[in-house]
Amino acid sequence: MNLTLKIWRQNGPNDKGRMETYPVSDISPDMSFLEMIDVLNDALIRDGKDPVAFDHDCREGICGMCSMYINGEAHGPGRQITTCQLHMRSFKDGETIYIEPWRAAAFPVVKDLAVDRSAFDRIIQAGGYVSVNTSGNTQDANAIPVPKADADAAFDAATCIGCGACVATCKNASAMLFVSAKVSQLSLLPQGQPEKNERVLNMVNQMDLEGFGNCTNTGACEVECPKGISLENIARMNRDYLAASVTAD
Ligand code: SF4
Ligand code: FES
Repeated sequence: MNLTLKIWRQNGPNDKGRMETYPVSDISPDMSFLEMIDVLNDALIRDGKDPVAFDHDCREGICGMCSMYINGEAHGPGRQITTCQLHMRSFKDGETIYIEPWRAAAFPVVKDLAVDRSAFDRIIQAGGYVSVNTSGNTQDANAIPVPKADADAAFDAATCIGCGACVATCKNASAMLFVSAKVSQLSLLPQGQPEKNERVLNMVNQMDLEGFGNCTNTGACEVECPKGISLENIARMNRDYLAASVTAD
């Protein structure tokens, strides 16, 4: 396949940035999208030019690093896949492909397609954990019965890989789908109950401090989420937040 790539190049957070055009040739339809960028970067390096910076790690849909906008869609045209799981056969020979970073005030561009998503880390640090008393009498987690429906819902929420596609897709750059998944995966389980109120209040508070926008129930986040995280998590988090607010000191 021969393709024309229009890629966002930006030297750093304060650089204005611009789209640049790169032709690539002899691309196999069986390559992943990231492998196609590897081919381009190899050629750029051979020519003594600056390769395109992009995040990646696992390349199998687990780590959530390979975040980029492809032809105006987070993670490209596929549904419930990440960019590393997208193959070039999803595009036509001769096509022009537009590749841009996530765009959100809370995700500043580090370089080219790589953005700083440490805002997500700070939201997790605000409450995305279960405290365990390791006094020597710790109860084995497997000894605590969990209703099957709750275990399934918690597992579904836990599949969120923190990629940020929900934020990038949302017209308000809201992080509600991510935060609600991370709140739900713990609040649905017995182990998450002692800190349930504190957790939802602190994580939502940190989300607001980071500058993410509000949710206006458009639902684009759910459509573009590579893990199919449901909007039900946002409804559950809103209920939990309201309940925690009225009982807070
Ligand atoms: S909710 Fe979906 S889109 Fe948002 S961070 Fe998690 S996996 Fe990515
Ligand atoms: S590189 Fe890990 S999800 Fe794509």
